Amino acid sequence: MSEQQLFKVTIDNITIEVPAGTTILNAARQIGGDVTPPAMCYYSKLEGSGGKCRTCLVEVSKGSEKDPRPMPKLIASCRTTVMDGMEVKNITSEKVVDARAGVVEFLLLNHPLDCPICDQAGECHLQDLSYDHGKEGTRYEFERRTFKKHDLGPYIQLHMTRCILCYRCVYTADQLSKERSHGVLDRGDHAQIATFIEKSLDNEFIGNVIDVCPVGALTDKTFRFKNRVWFLKPMDAHRDCPTCSGKVTLWNRGDEVYRVTARKDKWGEVEDWICNTCRFETKNTSDWVIEGPREIDRHSVIAQGHYQGSVGMHKPTETFAAVNAGRAPHLLMDIHSVSEVNKDSSL
Ligand code: SF4
Ligand code: FES
Repeated sequence: MSEQQLFKVTIDNITIEVPAGTTILNAARQIGGDVTPPAMCYYSKLEGSGGKCRTCLVEVSKGSEKDPRPMPKLIASCRTTVMDGMEVKNITSEKVVDARAGVVEFLLLNHPLDCPICDQAGECHLQDLSYDHGKEGTRYEFERRTFKKHDLGPYIQLHMTRCILCYRCVYTADQLSKERSHGVLDRGDHAQIATFIEKSLDNEFIGNVIDVCPVGALTDKTFRFKNRVWFLKPMDAHRDCPTCSGKVTLWNRGDEVYRVTARKDKWGEVEDWICNTCRFETKNTSDWVIEGPREIDRHSVIAQGHYQGSVGMHKPTETFAAVNAGRAPHLLMDIHSVSEVNKDSSL
């Protein structure tokens, strides 16, 4: 067997070797951390995804060892493969930081500010993207888009106003079901996700469109408005399912299963597609074999506090000085002595 050709690529001054044909985004994912560009439309499990949202733009300051000329424009890292000796700038490039802030502003032009009532809050990639890469304000002065309501069947709710047209759900429906029944209709600012003749999407795997949607445009009708995700305990569980792997994450409160989702990796991507029966119709704890708490890798409000890998609260072990750049506090005030709000119940 011939040895795989490896290419050396440097991203934000960190050099790694990756197989030829790897995209810049996937090379950066191997390094991890802030070096990895955000991706709102690329999905490694979906063929043809990527190239739509432009959040993954990077600067190529050296094309390759053979042709060291820089690329004239910022390029989409999810669609560009590495060359040997390539040098890429992501967060070290002012141009990228500025362009990404522009992309975030653009994605938010028509996006409603309904995070307080949106079921995706707490696990919304657009929310994270705007906090990490966006600007405080918008320059947009016009009315936001509105759409005619579309019924996507008994399980899935579409809020078209929240959609960023990443096409992930279209590829999912296309690649997991035999028959294509929804897609992007119209173009420009009229473009929308819709079903032809309002036909319901009744494929056994169609529920996965909810998991791939980076925003709250597609949500689970059996879970809508029932609870906030950060109040629920994610638990890995499985069952003997004749249709899919049966490996899921249960989102519980006490013994009650509020929702069932596929398990997601640290990039927020589904590990194993699950069927509609597991997702929507198997909501008794007794239906499942619980494996243990799910570790949420993505930085998320769900991971904070009590669910980073083990059950129970984590008390910080560092000293105050260690988290305050070496400076010890001059004065430590007991909040209970001045506040009536959070009275210490032990007193
Ligand atoms: S509905 Fe969600 S997954 Fe589908 S195109 Fe819109 S944002 Fe993407
Ligand atoms: S993730 Fe690359 S263009 Fe969307």
